[in-house]
Amino acid sequence: MLNNFPLWPDQASTMASRVDALYIFLLLVTGAMALLVFACVAFFAARFRHRPGVRAEQIEGSNALEITWSAIPFLIFMAIFGWGAFVFFQERTPPADAAEVYVVAKQWMWKVEHAEGQREINELHVPVGRDVKLIMTSQDVIHSFYIPAFRIKQDVLPGRYTVEWFRATKPGVYHLFCAEYCGTQHSGMVGSIVVQQPADYEAWMNGASTGPLSASGEKIFAELGCSTCHRSDTQGRGPNLQGVFGKPVQLDDGRTVTADENYLRESILDPGSKRVKGFQPIMPTFQGLVSEEQVNDLVAYIKAISLSKPINGAKTSANRAVSGDSSDTEGQTPPLPSGSKVQ
Ligand code: CUA
Repeated sequence: MLNNFPLWPDQASTMASRVDALYIFLLLVTGAMALLVFACVAFFAARFRHRPGVRAEQIEGSNALEITWSAIPFLIFMAIFGWGAFVFFQERTPPADAAEVYVVAKQWMWKVEHAEGQREINELHVPVGRDVKLIMTSQDVIHSFYIPAFRIKQDVLPGRYTVEWFRATKPGVYHLFCAEYCGTQHSGMVGSIVVQQPADYEAWMNGASTGPLSASGEKIFAELGCSTCHRSDTQGRGPNLQGVFGKPVQLDDGRTVTADENYLRESILDPGSKRVKGFQPIMPTFQGLVSEEQVNDLVAYIKAISLSKPINGAKTSANRAVSGDSSDTEGQTPPLPSGSKVQ
């Protein structure tokens, strides 16, 4: 319906119909209330209009009436709140087994890295019917990753990771917008979400020119000398990182934190802020020494050794050129046509 006059974007994710249902409910409730108010205004204006010789009488309040018109809206608002919270928590909670894609925003482009190794710019290829979790950060200012057809939007902040997830339900090409004013070319910070059938997606993914992020991360981990302190036995000067991801970590100051993506990231860039109990503050900061992409690679590597999944780079890095250093993509920003792969 309304094909030539689209008031609604496509419904192309599992969240889309849930968000729309709530939105339509809000429209109906507010529309009905507006009609009711206008009807009352018209009715009372006619019913109690000035007539010659008739004096207006003062009508005192009615408790029953006031309780009714307070209680009914209260219940409606609570229903909206409960429904909204339910949808919100669904949208905020990525499924545990979602495929992971790292997104780095910068003025004015989106750099996308699939955990399996494909890299793209201003494009994101995903298969139909698979949960995809985006782990996003910004190199400069606040951006916002917005896919109207999926009904998801999430701010992308410098200095930390934010996350959003979706499951695409319909093949096609959908708009990606930056939804946070981020400078002169904010309105040009757009891209495409390409939703493919699983077979097409596999074919596209197999064209990857780079190995998995965790393999790049392993290389960087060795190059930066991380592996000399973070050894896989207990003899290292830094904590053993095997199995650390997703687990609670006891800190020197008595706190306990969960080793999630943001914790790993912070520990690379600001190692002193959350020091693991029993270790000396000897780790240097890597702020400014590693690019956002390299931090992503390191995080992907630490996750891979934590989940004790074999790094499938062992298989693929032999026949694929693993580009561990992705910082060479810096500086060639605007000239890259949309959809170019970062080598
Ligand atoms: Cu990036 Cu607006």
